[in-house]
Amino acid sequence: MRDKIVAGNWKMNLTRQAGLSLVDEIYRGLNLDDTTDVKVVVAPPFPFLFEMRDWINPETLLFLSAQNCHQEKNGAFTGAVSAEMLASYDCTYCIVGHSERREYFGEDDKLINQKIQRLLENSIKPIYCCGESLEERESEKHFEVVAAQIQSAFQGFKKQELLNVVVAYEPVWAIGTGKTATPEQAQEMHAFIRQKLSQVLGDEAEEISILYGGSVKPENAKELFSQKDIDGGLIGGASLNANQFLSIIHSF
Ligand code: PGA
Repeated sequence: MRDKIVAGNWKMNLTRQAGLSLVDEIYRGLNLDDTTDVKVVVAPPFPFLFEMRDWINPETLLFLSAQNCHQEKNGAFTGAVSAEMLASYDCTYCIVGHSERREYFGEDDKLINQKIQRLLENSIKPIYCCGESLEERESEKHFEVVAAQIQSAFQGFKKQELLNVVVAYEPVWAIGTGKTATPEQAQEMHAFIRQKLSQVLGDEAEEISILYGGSVKPENAKELFSQKDIDGGLIGGASLNANQFLSIIHSF
């Protein structure tokens, strides 16, 4: 049975106090609910990770993620944070390959491949983001683009290593735009991704959680999450509001 996961990517938002209040509200909202079997992940900015550890609680299925890491183990990389440091802060997950990192920081799949390597060495599960631009979808290149991203990001890893990866399909045109992929569009791509993974993993591709990201809201989460190959969501904007985030979690 693959994990159901709802992950909140806070991006570069909130202050320390606002972040602590938000995680506390989420935690309390989860405690009240005794039925959820969804792994809830919060990905705050780096400086908040230390204090957020106090809310990690496997019983309420609340886990910590970072939003990024550096591709080298350690060294003279001013301003950077290593996977080893994240492991020492009890991060279970780390987002890699987000389209904002690709667009604003020039990250490509070769670099992302190195980051995945560092994370796996430190027993952190990468949440690997892939997805096409609007132009690529309109010219019907979306399958080709996503296949190439996955191929190069996961190149060189053993089957046993890849079983620790979570994939997030995030069509770039849906991120922060209010436009969501239809459940059919998302399901079609998720099934395609699973089929690509099965070329390496065989039947065990069924064990990989594939999340959808891009303007997920309480209003559309239920329909998206009811699709066969959609195992949860990577949530940006709506994860900054505890009620909305909890309502997305409870959509399962
Ligand atoms: P959004 O962001 O939910 O605000 O569209 C999703 C993401 O960037 O992961």
